[in-house]
Amino acid sequence: MQIPPYLVNERYDDRYFDVVNAIEEAKHIFFRGSGLPDIFAATRPGRKEFRIGETGFGAGRLLIALLDFLDDCGAKDLEIAYHSVELHPVTSKRMAAILGGFRNEVGPLIDLLVHAYGSLDITRPGWHRIRLVRPFGRLTLNLWIGEALEMVHALAAPCDAWFLDGHGPKKNPSIWRPELLLAIGEKTDAGGSCATYTVAGAVRRGLIAAGFSIDQRPGFGGKKAVLRGIKQ
Ligand SMILES: C[S@@+](CC[C@H](N)C(=O)[O-])C[C@H]1O[C@@H](n2cnc3c(N)ncnc32)[C@H](O)[C@@H]1O
Repeated sequence: MQIPPYLVNERYDDRYFDVVNAIEEAKHIFFRGSGLPDIFAATRPGRKEFRIGETGFGAGRLLIALLDFLDDCGAKDLEIAYHSVELHPVTSKRMAAILGGFRNEVGPLIDLLVHAYGSLDITRPGWHRIRLVRPFGRLTLNLWIGEALEMVHALAAPCDAWFLDGHGPKKNPSIWRPELLLAIGEKTDAGGSCATYTVAGAVRRGLIAAGFSIDQRPGFGGKKAVLRGIKQ
């Protein structure tokens, strides 16, 4: 299949995500992989906010998939803080084009995110905030424009779950470097999780060194296996 050029991050010569089934893929690898259905089924009013970290915001596909997943999960009164980071932010026009293939599935969510993201000044480094009110509760996107390690250091509190979604380690080793994974481990609550699509040995070793116990889960689509970590 010919991949349209806007789906490829020209800096890393790598696609933003698998083009087919990327919404379902996100739910399998990142949300079910992090045990979110059980966590939110057990959620009661008054529970503390649930904090998520993501490396590589890209076009926001993971966030769109998460909103869709949470809208459908039946939970109420959730308070989600979603911290993400992007070194090379796309324009809102390009975001709309990249996400365009999922219009039939999640069109209104794409419009919501593209509109809110379009109001941010992405030329300014540091935190940017978008607040969304949804049937499941509230989600605040805290998007750091800049380098991933800076974002992790800038987090005021540890996360409950990390979605590690940088480009492949061969195309972009910097977003999997041991120093960054160590910092992510330090910014994860005990019992918190990380999930990623890559099973590369260097990533696995980096996560173990960062304090995660790692197990391999069945993959999705063409991928045989994916990783999940639990912080000890
Ligand atoms: C695979 S894409 C992310 C896809 C995104 N999660 C989505 O669902 O649309 C990886 C992203 O990480 C960004 N990136 C690469 N290196 C980075 C770094 N060191 N710090 C922050 N972002 C980085 C890239 O520009 C790219 O947008």
